[in-house]
Amino acid sequence: MQIETIDKNKLPKHIAIIMDGNGRWAKKHNRERFYGHQAGAEAAKDIVETAAEIGIRFLTLYAFSKENWNRPQEEVKSLMQLLIQGVTDNLEYFKSLNIKLKTIGDFENLPENVKQSVLTAQNQTKENTGLTLIVALNYGSRWEILEAVKKIALNIEKKIISIDDINEDLFDKNLNTAGIPDPDLLIRTSGEVRISNFLLWQISYSELYFSDLCWPDFRKAQLIEAILHFQNRERRFGKTSTQIKNNNENCK
Ligand code: FPP
Repeated sequence: MQIETIDKNKLPKHIAIIMDGNGRWAKKHNRERFYGHQAGAEAAKDIVETAAEIGIRFLTLYAFSKENWNRPQEEVKSLMQLLIQGVTDNLEYFKSLNIKLKTIGDFENLPENVKQSVLTAQNQTKENTGLTLIVALNYGSRWEILEAVKKIALNIEKKIISIDDINEDLFDKNLNTAGIPDPDLLIRTSGEVRISNFLLWQISYSELYFSDLCWPDFRKAQLIEAILHFQNRERRFGKTSTQIKNNNENCK
């Protein structure tokens, strides 16, 4: 699959990815789970690089969920280490690609050393204007939605807003993803067909793309294939096919 086959006028603005299958990939290669996560981090770098090359504006990677704390302590520790390494070792490279780093999730409750490396990377890339890379860290969509509800309720209590001010726009602004457009395309690897508490509000109209490959095998060619698949889909946002065709000459 070649990048040139992608229609630059119909690019998904925001791609979100559930990177699943590192453990199974390691098992297939008769290795420890950590080896799978290491290979997964390499795949993540490949995908970030490709997304930047294609001209994608926003890429969200689900790196660590709130539920992932329930994994064996050793695995949690090695994942945290890998995250620090991923952010720190790639910082200069990301800067050279004009990438801006952001995170979503419960940042406060991350280990101090993870927070420090992320803050450093965020600070050093905040003026960048290319791809925005959003890493979901200690993230859970239900948690995010409840946090938004609490913020809104507090503002009502303080009489800053009234109940009538609650609408989709206000709700969007109170999510971790405020200011980031909703994903156009959601990808999940490893053959699982689940959303796993990821961006539940934001993916209301996203195209869903499921790949049978384990995450470490999902590379440049596979991202291009997913984007081509997206470009051949007709996104209707509740309208009829005819309405869309009349409204948009680019539709098939
Ligand atoms: C899912 O595979 C993967 C994760 C929970 C971790 C994702 C993390 C990385 C790819 C590495 C670091 C990423 C960045 C952005 C630096 P799994 O362990 O659930 O696989 P399994 O279902 O086969 O066991």
